[in-house]
Amino acid sequence: MSQYPHLRLRRTRATTWSRALYRETVLTPADLIWPLFVTEGRGVEEPVGSLPGVSRWSVDAIADRAREAVALGIPCVALFPNTPHALRNETGTEAHNPQNLVCTAIRAIKDAVGDDLGVLTDVALDPYTSHGQDGLIDDNGYVANDATVDALVGQALVQASAGADIVAPSDMMDGRIGVIREALEDQGHHNVQIMAYAAKYASAFYGPFRDAVGSGGLLKGDKKTYQMDPANGDEALREVELDLLEGADSVMVKPGLPYLDIVRRVHEEFGVPTFAYQVSGEYAMIEAAVAAGAGEREPLVMETLTAFKRAGASGVLTYHAPVAARLMGG
Ligand code: PBG
Repeated sequence: MSQYPHLRLRRTRATTWSRALYRETVLTPADLIWPLFVTEGRGVEEPVGSLPGVSRWSVDAIADRAREAVALGIPCVALFPNTPHALRNETGTEAHNPQNLVCTAIRAIKDAVGDDLGVLTDVALDPYTSHGQDGLIDDNGYVANDATVDALVGQALVQASAGADIVAPSDMMDGRIGVIREALEDQGHHNVQIMAYAAKYASAFYGPFRDAVGSGGLLKGDKKTYQMDPANGDEALREVELDLLEGADSVMVKPGLPYLDIVRRVHEEFGVPTFAYQVSGEYAMIEAAVAAGAGEREPLVMETLTAFKRAGASGVLTYHAPVAARLMGG
């Protein structure tokens, strides 16, 4: 009895209303975090060559993007600086300057939209170092863990003091979440969240981002001694477990689409807020497909973003955030 023709799974797919009724996963603008690149100057919009449709904005223009995000129903933006090259050095000291681009942008956003928008900041030294690594390097070029953690604490604290709502360490040093959490508590930043880039892979998909923050040309070698091997899944669960024990409020898997299995495993194993970062190379691939006539932007964007949610993601960092939010009528 329980077979064709009694059972026809196409019945519920036959009409638009029925597909809407049976849809298991619903994407909304509230699922999106919009990454923004900040640059020097006033009234500046500087297109990023390898990310068609994405620009670096000066601080005043970033405040306009914040207003745009609120109007579109996007709850949070993520800030990344294109630090002037003259301010980069071996140890990334500009990361600790309370007047640096990111801190200035946080204040401008808070002045513009207050608490209508969350501001997430990246904790890692790569936009500030002259060598493009995320931390402090020793004589052999090895990124030294514990010295880097100390520097990251200082960076997270200036961001929190400037008004960041979420600090997001993307550096993959061991132990940094616990030390940052303790410092935030000590300084009275009890409600500043930590979103840990817990499972961040040494990926080939970060190229356009490194262009956007101006670290690509500086970087020698790779980041394989701290970012994870793309071949590993079980290890991602250990990373997530430690970051949660150390005080992370939410965790991230990065990149996105090639790692949906990890998103699924993290969500099932821990049941904690799990975010995915659809990174720059993934954005660029979609835009390249569109430019080549191999697909249409809107359906490609909506399908990929919906897939993140289906896999268990609580939300997605994506450069397509404004495009997607507009499609959803935001
Ligand atoms: C820096 C950082 C990177 C990204 C986010 N934070 C690059 C890297 O690790 O080299 C990549 C984001 C993207 O590609 O969109 N720690």
